[in-house]
Amino acid sequence: MRSRHLTSQLLRRKSIDKLLAESESAGLKKSLGPWSLTALGIGAIIGSGIFVLTGTAAAGENFQAPSLWKAQVLDVVVNLVSTGNLSHVLKHGRPAAGPSIAISFILVAIACSFAGLCYAELASMIPIAGSAYTYSYATLGEIFAWIIGWDLILEYAVSNVAVAVGFSGYLKAQLAVFGLSLPEAWSSPVWAGGQWTGAYFNLPAFLIVMLLTVLLVRGVKESAETNNIMVLVKLAAILVFLVVGSTLINPANWHPFAPNGFGGIVTGGAIIFFTYIGFDSVSTAAEESKNPQKDLPFGIIVSLVVCTVFYAGVALVLTGMLKYTTFVSGPAADAPVAYALQVLGAHPFFRSVIVIGALTGMLSSLLCFQYGQARIWYAMSRDGLFPKLFSVVHPKYKTPSYSTWIAGFAVGLPAGFMDIGDAADLSNIGTLFAFVLVSFGVIFLRRRDPDRKRGFRVPFVPWFPMLSILFCGGLMTGLTITTWVRFIGWLAIGLVIYFFYSRHRSEFGRNPV
Ligand code: ALA
Repeated sequence: MRSRHLTSQLLRRKSIDKLLAESESAGLKKSLGPWSLTALGIGAIIGSGIFVLTGTAAAGENFQAPSLWKAQVLDVVVNLVSTGNLSHVLKHGRPAAGPSIAISFILVAIACSFAGLCYAELASMIPIAGSAYTYSYATLGEIFAWIIGWDLILEYAVSNVAVAVGFSGYLKAQLAVFGLSLPEAWSSPVWAGGQWTGAYFNLPAFLIVMLLTVLLVRGVKESAETNNIMVLVKLAAILVFLVVGSTLINPANWHPFAPNGFGGIVTGGAIIFFTYIGFDSVSTAAEESKNPQKDLPFGIIVSLVVCTVFYAGVALVLTGMLKYTTFVSGPAADAPVAYALQVLGAHPFFRSVIVIGALTGMLSSLLCFQYGQARIWYAMSRDGLFPKLFSVVHPKYKTPSYSTWIAGFAVGLPAGFMDIGDAADLSNIGTLFAFVLVSFGVIFLRRRDPDRKRGFRVPFVPWFPMLSILFCGGLMTGLTITTWVRFIGWLAIGLVIYFFYSRHRSEFGRNPV
């Protein structure tokens, strides 16, 4: 009896009609059109990834001590199946993509667009704030909503850890142009590449998150207009880089183009997937969009296309400027774009324009994810899955101040210790998993609720969502065993909290039917 009650609670779904009614009564202003939504997407997508990870993804990685922890899951599985042992598993490092990282950018964008279509269908059907968390509460049931909400925290929080670390690297590079050098021990990750670096704390990474937290608590939210300006600044910085950088290309650097063939392209892809994280945030604006049915898919797909063109361009120019092997470590790995411009003697004016543009872009991305994160915690708390404290609204500023502070420390403190690569890998696996669940949601809902109005329908269901699951799952296997273990650990902690706490306090737990 008890177990029947438990199973039925785990699979309880919020009614879509009730969600829609709640959203109507929330009365958010419907002011966003297709181009504002696209700008919102680009604003969230372009953060520090393109300015940092392109270099290391092209260069690959070498570890001093071989270890199975560093092996990619795909490599382990293929070797186990084909040879029955692990002796051929690559444990010394990650194969370099070289200049072919530009191809990784295009392939990953194609993979993301399948997931993007699935997001768009759910968003146009359930145009409610809360993104994948809300969709899964309405489609798959409470336990899945919990898993995905918990997983989204990983996506939002850990990707911001990575962006903050990238910000610190570029800030350091820019201050050096002005003749100011920050002490390494107080401006570098404490743990990187599987070892202690000797640094104490990455203070700029911590401080920037705290500064934004203060702003967010006081209710400073990027308005659509500010966001549009920020997006123009980011794109202009990249354009200037493309123009200035292409005058410094030596085509010999493009040979060999793909030093490790398709393997390098895929492993590079699993890393630079990070640079696309954020396009799903377009769907969180569903309630504020004028015509969600048409404009959401437009915003998601167009922002992906624009970013792909810029990203592939940066990858080609950067690997044409310097040999890809240069970016393996040190300042060339921390801030490859700034480094390449400096080494090749680009005019300091252009260097500053590009770096300051990049820093501004990172700030807007940080702000957007800190904002979104606090709202997800707020939504989960409102549903009873998190303590009520998370949904307390500040009496004066009318913002979820506790959630915002907690999000600040949850991101700021790890940003003081972690390396961008570790943080990016962890947020990649979390996000890819969320995409897999959303794609399942589309297939499932087409069967369970076929007649509900969908402003946008994914073509060729179930094949397109299945391709999304396949591509996202495939990219997950390009990540290392360490990343998988960390991810499984995160989910396990989440499930313990759910079964011992949230389940008893959720709306359905308090009012069993
Ligand atoms: N896509 C974001 C970035 O590249 C997270 O920084």
